[in-house]
Amino acid sequence: MSPDDWILDIQNLFIDYRTKRGNLHAVHDASLRIRPGESVAVIGESGCGKTTLAASIVKMLPLNADIRSGSITYKPRKGKSVSIHSSSEQTMRTLRWSEIVMMFQASQSSFNPVTKIYTQFLDTARAHRMKLTSQQVLKRSRELLELVYLNGDAVLNSYPHELSGGMKQRTLIALSLLLDPQLIILDEPTTALDLITQKRILLLLNSLRKSHNFSMIFITHDLGIVTQLADRVVTMYAGAVVEDSPSSEFFADPKHPYSVGLLRAIPKLNAAFEHLYSIPGSTPDLVRRIDGCLFSPRCEHSHDRCLREVPQLRSVGGHRLAACHLYEEVTV
Ligand SMILES: Nc1ncnc2c1ncn2[C@@H]1O[C@H](COP(=O)(O)OP(=O)(O)OP(=O)(O)O)[C@@H](O)[C@H]1O
Ligand SMILES: [Mg+2]
Repeated sequence: MSPDDWILDIQNLFIDYRTKRGNLHAVHDASLRIRPGESVAVIGESGCGKTTLAASIVKMLPLNADIRSGSITYKPRKGKSVSIHSSSEQTMRTLRWSEIVMMFQASQSSFNPVTKIYTQFLDTARAHRMKLTSQQVLKRSRELLELVYLNGDAVLNSYPHELSGGMKQRTLIALSLLLDPQLIILDEPTTALDLITQKRILLLLNSLRKSHNFSMIFITHDLGIVTQLADRVVTMYAGAVVEDSPSSEFFADPKHPYSVGLLRAIPKLNAAFEHLYSIPGSTPDLVRRIDGCLFSPRCEHSHDRCLREVPQLRSVGGHRLAACHLYEEVTV
């Protein structure tokens, strides 16, 4: 796959929230490229900007958010590239579901509680002017539901409250595949489910990714799931992408000191509690901007330059990127 072969390209994105205390810099110079068919995990502590970054891709940011600068470009399966940040709401309505599906945290509640599931499949098809009769849409819906191990007829004739959380989540996956999207973004959509169901659903999505040829961006706090599902891992810290590495290399040899800390913080099954590691310090206040590397107050390798100069995300060899002055000397 050539590096130019991408479906989504985010470049130097800055997103602020207007708050009473001033502008909160939620996404700070983030760059990310998604290639056809790949699965990318986005990880980082709570509040580091994962949801904000994901919501910007489908232009579903809260009203007090402003994209300050940067670009988000999407390449549909057919036709010309679309500049998401400057697209109209009408263009975005066409893209959502048919090209890019976003599943938010606790997304099982996104079904309308008073209509049966089959109506929701038909409405989605109609809203996107699918060129199929109602009978054909229902046939396809039934097939998709069977694909996620559900009884198609029974589920189509149910109200959402008649389905368990796991069944609702699988129904939502079937619904997301109805229009054959090219990119599915999952923002911890399974956190309301028990751990075994979560894992099963994510593994199911991963096998569908291969058979249905879509790319996946998934946000999770569960690094165990990342090892099983991700081709690539993107680490965010205080709004910035600080590392972007193929998954196996990331887990074997994390490059950014923050990634090293995150991996060290995973409890080992045989570790005693007193030996559990946590990264010292806390995340910076995103309203106040500090000079230099945002991680430097917590970094054991911090030196003068880190306090003065923001490190850029750059190649650190192979297909790996990191934003850290430690690697400035590496030539590639
Ligand atoms: N609507 C909003 N108005 C003001 N600030 C917000 C808003 N939404 C998020 N934030 C702030 O923006 C920053 C990034 O939030 P975001 O929700 O993107 O983080 P996250 O990485 O998804 O966190 P989590 O892992 O907890 O879901 C945080 O400091 C958060 O408090
Ligand atoms: Mg979030």
